[in-house]
Amino acid sequence: MRSLTLDGTVGSDPEDRKLAGIETFSEDAVRLTERLDTFWSMPTNRTGPLLAALVLSACAPEVERLTPVGDVQELMIAVIEPAAEVYWDAVGEILDSAGVHEIRPASDEEWEAVSHAAFLVAESGNLLMMSGRARDRGDWTTMSQALIEVGREALKAADARNSEAVFDAGAEIYYVCSECHAKYAAETLRPNDARGN
Ligand code: HEC
Repeated sequence: MRSLTLDGTVGSDPEDRKLAGIETFSEDAVRLTERLDTFWSMPTNRTGPLLAALVLSACAPEVERLTPVGDVQELMIAVIEPAAEVYWDAVGEILDSAGVHEIRPASDEEWEAVSHAAFLVAESGNLLMMSGRARDRGDWTTMSQALIEVGREALKAADARNSEAVFDAGAEIYYVCSECHAKYAAETLRPNDARGN
């Protein structure tokens, strides 16, 4: 029997509720209310699950908002390669007829440029792992994380203005670039390709 209450809602007769298509909804709602009652009447440890729920709801949309602007190739050309070049060119030796000349950053500004380049290399590891760029969640992730790690070391060396450490960190960066190219860009980029080295 159909029994509409005065405010237009369907009455409590199960058949009516099924007809009105609200059975599942209202039963779930009742169960949720009961669980919430239990939850709030628990004497301790209320904030743990509550915080976990808040963290979950705060994280999910954040991830979806990440939208790559360019593909891997564009990121290499526009960001990673230029930054690595600045870092590699910062420290070294040049041999000419007058002998060996050491290349070192000569001012605060030049040292800062080296730090910024290292920072870009390190942070690029995160950009490589974004969905839309990541080729897989295995070796690609490992190598992207390796780029972050060597980038951090490179940043430390530059911040400490230690030119020997900058030279060594530059070699480590180079090693990570080549490793990834050997696996993921073998068709387009040979290890000795001037573009990647
Ligand atoms: C996690 C993997 C990965 C790492 C780490 C990586 N690359 Fe790449 N790189 C690629 C892939 C894949 C391509 C090929 C992209 C394509 O053609 O679609 C590429 C292409 C390039 C290119 C060629 C772009 C062109 O002209 O087509 C350059 C230059 C380059 N990378 C520089 C670097 C440098 C410098 C580093 C280290 C600082 C580095 N990459 C680190 C994956 C990586």
